[in-house]
Amino acid sequence: MNTSKIKVDQVTVEYTKSNGSKWLSFGNHRKRKDGECRVVLHDINLRIEAGEFVSILGHSGCGKSTLLKIIAGFFKPAAGEVRIDGRKVDGPRPDHVFVFQEGALFPWLTIGENVAMALRSVADSKERLQQSREYLALVALEGVENDYPHMLSGGMRQRAEIARAMAARPDILFMDEPFSGLDHLTRLHLREEMLYLHIMLPRTTILFVTHDIDEALQLSNRLIILSEPPARVKCCRTIDVPHPRNPASDDLGELRAQIYHHLGVHTAL
Ligand SMILES: Nc1ncnc2c1ncn2[C@@H]1O[C@H](COP(=O)(O)OP(=O)(O)O)[C@@H](O)[C@H]1O
Ligand SMILES: [Mg+2]
Repeated sequence: MNTSKIKVDQVTVEYTKSNGSKWLSFGNHRKRKDGECRVVLHDINLRIEAGEFVSILGHSGCGKSTLLKIIAGFFKPAAGEVRIDGRKVDGPRPDHVFVFQEGALFPWLTIGENVAMALRSVADSKERLQQSREYLALVALEGVENDYPHMLSGGMRQRAEIARAMAARPDILFMDEPFSGLDHLTRLHLREEMLYLHIMLPRTTILFVTHDIDEALQLSNRLIILSEPPARVKCCRTIDVPHPRNPASDDLGELRAQIYHHLGVHTAL
């Protein structure tokens, strides 16, 4: 029996424009008869094991976010199927957590309360807040538990998201370009937080969409590059270099050049 955590088998995803201008995705060929149709992902096959940190790379618009949403069960593929722990995905699950670029902290809750939301299994509210402070301390966010998200910098908000994800101990953590809007130095710090999160949650499977090749090289144990749309898996590489890694080191230099090459960059290395 194949025990892969996530199995993506022959998945094709298309968005269909039917009545009006709204694009919708359909998991049902019958519905798209009279509509315009755009195939975004074509025949995607993947096996991802529990605890893997997989980075997904590809040009803007190639379907990276769509792939995450299909695996998370936000909508159905037009063809093929996704299985998690052997069970066919038929909708989002509470033990999956999404972290987006724009962040998803509740603006009406303090940072401490936001993290405490992930600790609902802890019955005592004081204990919840105490634990949320401890998770915030793990990402160097002491003393902000009573602040509201708008009072923090973008980097601090993403740190709080990481603390919340740690507290939730998700089965699968989906991260869709979580650090794109941040400055370079903040991103370097957040990479360290991500490595820490991965050590803290060894059974959590992480799917991480990024445009930053060095970020992917530094963090992941596998890299997947999607082709131009309709996207297929263009390249899949395992990185078994031990942490801490330097993306500019000889160990990773050749792979780095190959990835740039796959993404059509030949000179700016
Ligand atoms: N709801 C939607 N309706 C129609 N087209 C969509 C929808 N969402 C995404 N697309 C299109 O699908 C393609 C892939 O989008 P997306 O998965 O967001 O790409 P990426 O995350 O790689 O930038 C793009 O061409 C985008 O315009
Ligand atoms: Mg996207």
